[in-house]
Amino acid sequence: MCGIVGCILKENNDVAPILFYCILKLEYRGYDSIGLATYDNKIHVKKDQGNIETVNNRIHFKEMKGSCGIAHTRWASTGIPNYENAHPHLDDTNSIAVVHNGTLENYLDLKDELIKLGHTFKSTTDTEVIPHLIKIFMNEGLDLENAVKKCCQKLKGSYAIVAMSKDEPDKLIATRKDSPLIIAQNKDGYFVSSDIPAVLDYSRDIYRPKEGEFVIMTKESIEIHDENGEKIDPEYIYIDWSPKMAKKDGYDYFMIKEIHEQSLAVKNTLTQKTNIKKIIDEIGDIKRICFVACGTSYHASITGKYLIESQKGIPCDVIIASEYKYTAKTWDEDTLVIFISQSGETYDSRMALKEARKTSKTLAIVNVAGSAMTQEAEYFIQTQAGPEIGVAATKTYIAQLTAIYLFAGLLAENDELIEKLNKVPEYIEEIVKQEKLIEDISKRYDFADNAFYLGRGFSYPIALEGALKLKEISYIHAEGYAAGELKHGPLALINEKVPVIVIIPPGDDYDKTMVNLQEVKAREAIILSIGAKGDEKLRENSRIVVEINPEVTDIIAPLVYTVPLQLLSYYVTVEKGYNPDQPRNLAKVITV
Ligand code: M6R
Repeated sequence: MCGIVGCILKENNDVAPILFYCILKLEYRGYDSIGLATYDNKIHVKKDQGNIETVNNRIHFKEMKGSCGIAHTRWASTGIPNYENAHPHLDDTNSIAVVHNGTLENYLDLKDELIKLGHTFKSTTDTEVIPHLIKIFMNEGLDLENAVKKCCQKLKGSYAIVAMSKDEPDKLIATRKDSPLIIAQNKDGYFVSSDIPAVLDYSRDIYRPKEGEFVIMTKESIEIHDENGEKIDPEYIYIDWSPKMAKKDGYDYFMIKEIHEQSLAVKNTLTQKTNIKKIIDEIGDIKRICFVACGTSYHASITGKYLIESQKGIPCDVIIASEYKYTAKTWDEDTLVIFISQSGETYDSRMALKEARKTSKTLAIVNVAGSAMTQEAEYFIQTQAGPEIGVAATKTYIAQLTAIYLFAGLLAENDELIEKLNKVPEYIEEIVKQEKLIEDISKRYDFADNAFYLGRGFSYPIALEGALKLKEISYIHAEGYAAGELKHGPLALINEKVPVIVIIPPGDDYDKTMVNLQEVKAREAIILSIGAKGDEKLRENSRIVVEINPEVTDIIAPLVYTVPLQLLSYYVTVEKGYNPDQPRNLAKVITV
């Protein structure tokens, strides 16, 4: 997955600093290589492997001249990260430059055909076939717009591309299929990009081109054409995110800033109550619910299942999006399929959504306004977390949970549950005040190679999420287990060197979880418990306890108990000297 940007300035000849600024804002989408191309009498390209700032210090992107250009930040999918594979890619004659986000499934066949025609390739990427094809079609007499269109007819797979040609200077053509793309404009120029943060400083009105639409940018205008070349009138939407929200604002990393923003994310998402009630009324009767999601959003879905089944008694399933096909045949008109996604662009979730639309009612719970899933699902709820830049999901997870709790509470007409949500921001703030304590605790964990997280019932998804947060950013192997499962295998791995994090809020499951805690204690594990303040029994049986307000019982624990685990992962990671915002091999949005 990668980030792409294109920009044309109406008068000014200094597009490179703007392109650089925009692409820096998309670094969360990929950070193994970066490149820019600008037009100044000919196409100039600078690119290299490495993160954006390091490469820029070496090759000085901002010195490039021209009023029209494209930029790319890469997260390698086809071809290793190296200079040759960095974008932009050119045709043999250096007259077409292209940046691409997505994966082409038929590029090997296309490449073979092109090689037979005498084309030479410099990279091992799928993307490089695109400029070659565009050049062939321009040689046949097509203009850039039609050459890009014809090229797209040959591509199989996903793509968002921006192309420029030396034969049509100061023009950019962009289009997409199954990969995100937005456009924006202001008094100085026109922008196209993979995501909103890139353009927030320039404009907050954006349009997301639909599949089959083409963006034509010149110094005079930005137009959207349909497949037949007919101009269409795009409906821009206003993005309620300030540029400040997408900046670190004095914090060392986005992740810690976003952890601090969680109480606000809950408060803001609670404002969606009326909206959610309206959706529930419109959906009407349902006999079954199926949650579909990936990663952290999958963990939010498990909480959703436990809530809806326990509060309303509607049977729920939770499906990992990439595995949906084994379940899809059971979806029918009485099933509501709920998609949970921060980005609203995750490829696997979108493919499942396409399938679900054929048979069932569909609802997407997403954070990014106007993202693909908001357009593709029948109903959508927008969580109000603001932009999340750190790769590890934190505030968007808590916001997803807030929306799910509202949905479940309203569905079950459980006013007491909804009432409880109002105090969650306060509970979260109390935990954030313990940040220093958790930072100190983290120093005792930086030695660990393995960690186990245990929880029962509503605390089980907390354990899963805690383990994912630790492993994805600190590279410590971590597993989340339903506490009762421990004795069915993993107990064999517990010894005096293994940290075990036990999530044990007050509630129905407390006694049973305490038995599990005793089991690991007997194996001399290093026990860190997250439990209620004043729980003496827990203190006696744990090495360390992080104390939470005792009003937080098991049912709302996912919204609160997750927070110390996020802080723990963050500080363990920083202590080990890693960048928590950019874990290796991972990117924020997985559109492939
Ligand atoms: O945008 P989505 O919520 O659909 O993304 C799904 C996962 O890729 C995501 O939750 C991932 O697991 C987190 N970034 C991990 O912190």
